[in-house]
Amino acid sequence: MARLLTALGVLLTLHMVSSNMLVCHVTNWAQYRPSSAKFTTDNIDPFLCTHVIYSLATINSFNQISAVEWNDEQQYGRLQSLKNVNPALKTLLSVGGTNNGISPFIAMVTKPESRAVFIKSAISFLRTNNFDGLNLAWEYPGHNGSPQEDKERFTQLVMELAKAFEADAKDNRKTKLMLSANVAALRPTIDGAYEVSKIVPHLDFINVMTYDYHGHWEAATGHNSPLFISSVDSGSHIHHNINSSVSHWLLLGAPAEKLLLGFPTFGRTYHLSTAATSLGAPADGPAAAGPYTRTPGFWAFYEICNFISGATVEWISEQEVPYAVSGSSWLGYDDLRSFSSKVQWMTAYNLGGAHVWTLDMDDFGGSFCSEGAYPLVNHLRISMGFPPKPTTTPAPTTTRDPVANFCRGLPNGLYENSADKTTYFQCFQGNTYLHHCQSGLIYWDSCKCCNWP
Ligand SMILES: *[C@@H]1O[C@H](CO)[C@@H](O)[C@H](O)[C@H]1NC(C)=O
Repeated sequence: MARLLTALGVLLTLHMVSSNMLVCHVTNWAQYRPSSAKFTTDNIDPFLCTHVIYSLATINSFNQISAVEWNDEQQYGRLQSLKNVNPALKTLLSVGGTNNGISPFIAMVTKPESRAVFIKSAISFLRTNNFDGLNLAWEYPGHNGSPQEDKERFTQLVMELAKAFEADAKDNRKTKLMLSANVAALRPTIDGAYEVSKIVPHLDFINVMTYDYHGHWEAATGHNSPLFISSVDSGSHIHHNINSSVSHWLLLGAPAEKLLLGFPTFGRTYHLSTAATSLGAPADGPAAAGPYTRTPGFWAFYEICNFISGATVEWISEQEVPYAVSGSSWLGYDDLRSFSSKVQWMTAYNLGGAHVWTLDMDDFGGSFCSEGAYPLVNHLRISMGFPPKPTTTPAPTTTRDPVANFCRGLPNGLYENSADKTTYFQCFQGNTYLHHCQSGLIYWDSCKCCNWP
């Protein structure tokens, strides 16, 4: 009996091997992108990330956390149901953004009473919707119309949230809610926004937004998310890179194991204003908007794939990231190689892991890049040393693999794989997940478990 491993046991063991975090953001506005770029929580691969952060909730005029989209609550439910497939998956709700250009935190944090209302509403909202934690997305305390005092008010909010989460766990005998924050990458912003040594003890993990370093708001081309300084950088631009940002966070006392490095699944574009095409070439705005993201200045990876197939691609060796040029369009982006470089750097600094902005901008369906579903995030996962996923998630439009299609029309549950008894299928919402029994064991449908032959 001791040797008997339930299917669930196998599942859990698989996912407790790695302590690294792979946190993935999804956005509730990605559902409005056209055709195969439309993304809902149903497009999430339950085995890809350790944590999924749902963006974005807001704070209403009564200082309570509140949903934004008409179907947020329905999407929360679909998100949480992924835990039926992968019980190790954790979910967080991100709160922030802006209302009419103003962060909803600014009014709420001013008084202890309004903070208390927010905190109470957040706990109740998270518990009702089965989230495992809260993510603070305030860009940024003390900036963008926010008074200087907000630096201290943010600290108070973080401390009060952490205390309330502890009390909630104790009183209700539940697992404590996690608390995380998305934080700035540029030094002047960091210094103006955070009392780092006071907030870090209360945050479970910290998403450093190591992207948007350069973009079409500048008059010369620069990379969205470079690992290191480049020889064309001068003045404050010498700090517009990952190595500089993370070094600063560490210097200010953030523990490496709580810092997560941001991996963008998007690139930033420029319109070149002369014949020069190199890094630092003159530019006068963004390239054309992508057909799916429809916002001038950035392209999702699935739009990038298409662009680079007809472009000249160069590797910036000083910064370990690629750029691509076609006509007067210039693009700084990330690919498998730059993700590998960043993982290597992140590992050398013993960081807690990675956070991906966002799942919905990777080629999540595999229909654009012909590299399978989630080429960037899958590569990131593998580079970080996670065990193979128990899945054969198909690229539905391109593959007609009988294994991948096994679950079509079948109810949720576990099924025997008659072609290979050392594996079994899990069906969930019509998708097929192929699991492997531990070495030496085969799947028995009688117990829906792996056991000795
Ligand atoms: C990375 O940052 C550290 C600390 O600021 C610095 O000493 C080092 O030279 C940087 N490395 C590169 C390659 O820029």
